[in-house]
Amino acid sequence: MKNFVINNPTFLHFGKNVIADLPSVMRSYGKRVLLVYGKGSIKESGVYAEVMEQLHLAGATVFEYSGIKSNPIISDVDAAADLGRKNNVDLIVAVGGGSVIDSAKIIALAIPLPNKAWDLFEYTAKPVTAIPLIAVLTLAATGTEMNGFAVVQNEVTKQKPGYFSPMIFPKHSFLDPDYTKTVPANYTAFGIVDLIAHALEGYFGAGETTLTDKLIFSIIQEAVEYGPSLMQNLQDYRLREKIMFAATLALNGTTAFGKKSGDWGVHGIGHSLTVLYDTAHGASLSVAYPAWMKHFKDVLEPSLLLLGNAVFGVNSAEETIQCFEDFFAQLGAPIRMHEIGLSETPNAAEIDALVESLSINKVNGDNYKMTPEDFRQILTLAY
Ligand code: NZQ
Ligand code: ZN
Repeated sequence: MKNFVINNPTFLHFGKNVIADLPSVMRSYGKRVLLVYGKGSIKESGVYAEVMEQLHLAGATVFEYSGIKSNPIISDVDAAADLGRKNNVDLIVAVGGGSVIDSAKIIALAIPLPNKAWDLFEYTAKPVTAIPLIAVLTLAATGTEMNGFAVVQNEVTKQKPGYFSPMIFPKHSFLDPDYTKTVPANYTAFGIVDLIAHALEGYFGAGETTLTDKLIFSIIQEAVEYGPSLMQNLQDYRLREKIMFAATLALNGTTAFGKKSGDWGVHGIGHSLTVLYDTAHGASLSVAYPAWMKHFKDVLEPSLLLLGNAVFGVNSAEETIQCFEDFFAQLGAPIRMHEIGLSETPNAAEIDALVESLSINKVNGDNYKMTPEDFRQILTLAY
């Protein structure tokens, strides 16, 4: 095992009607609230009304920034930070999926700074504090509700980097599985893929920790066991609850204990697909992960055997990869490039553009290093 420290400072409120705790929780942070949300799903689902009711019970003055897009962009972060700064907010409440909560994390750091938000990603801004953040999660996928990461896209430079700061763990996160019942089938499937991909990135990271590997297998097993039933019963609270809990554990540190870090090379490939094609995050991963496993099959063989045996009861690396691919397809997630808008067969211009984007984004695996030729072969395998 590698040496490690465990400290996850987020209070997680999980279950039916947990939002009723919001007013008491807010007492520690003040009453001037920047409410951040996306393109409108929370108004249609009724979550907006429920959160507003609690904010009013808390006596809050609310300033709203809405319209955060899926695969969020830095210009929205700057505009929201301006609004927060101008109104001297004490607290940010982010209501939505990963895109909204990640944006809110960077807004929280940007408000006290004189800089543009992108300076954080360039490491030229040096934050010393952040506005406290409360997250109300409406989509089970990213794990952002209980971690210190944020991923935001620069629409001008075509980069999609991640940023980590211990200051941006949400202070409290509210996870009511009822709030995810309106997530449509495609994003429900992408969320299940994403949580599995997080568990896999942890698994393929450097460092040997048998117990962490078993926790990883359990998280993936939970998704494999209940994901397909959820796809048939999108309104089922019990199934939503299982997937929501699994998604949080897949990226709140649990899958990294005793490891140097995760690998994260496949996520990098996924981010380049997103930057160029605006592919949904989980959809980029259901295409890229099987291709990456195929490319590294020989070197991954012992790990794939252990994984495939634990999760699917199979006894070869090939079968393990096939099982993941079949599982993603069973959920209705794409597994080939043409399903996300690229060509039917390997296309040199598309591959060149992606390899260039991977180089601009400085993508690589932490454990399994990739050369430009590796990228070409992985991308080719994804067609
Ligand atoms: O815009 P709204 O109205 O909010 O609609 C969203 C959006 O269209 C909709 N949605 C969310 N909750 C809903 C709902 N629709 C109906 N009912 C609900 N309850 O779903 C669409 C997708 O939302 P989005 O937030 O983009 O999805 P997700 O949670 O998958 O977040 C993806 C982003 O998170 C980043 C990704 O790169 C991507 O930018 N990630 C963040 C990570 C982190 N912070 O730790 C790790 C991940 O690997 C990932 O990179
Ligand atoms: Zn992810």
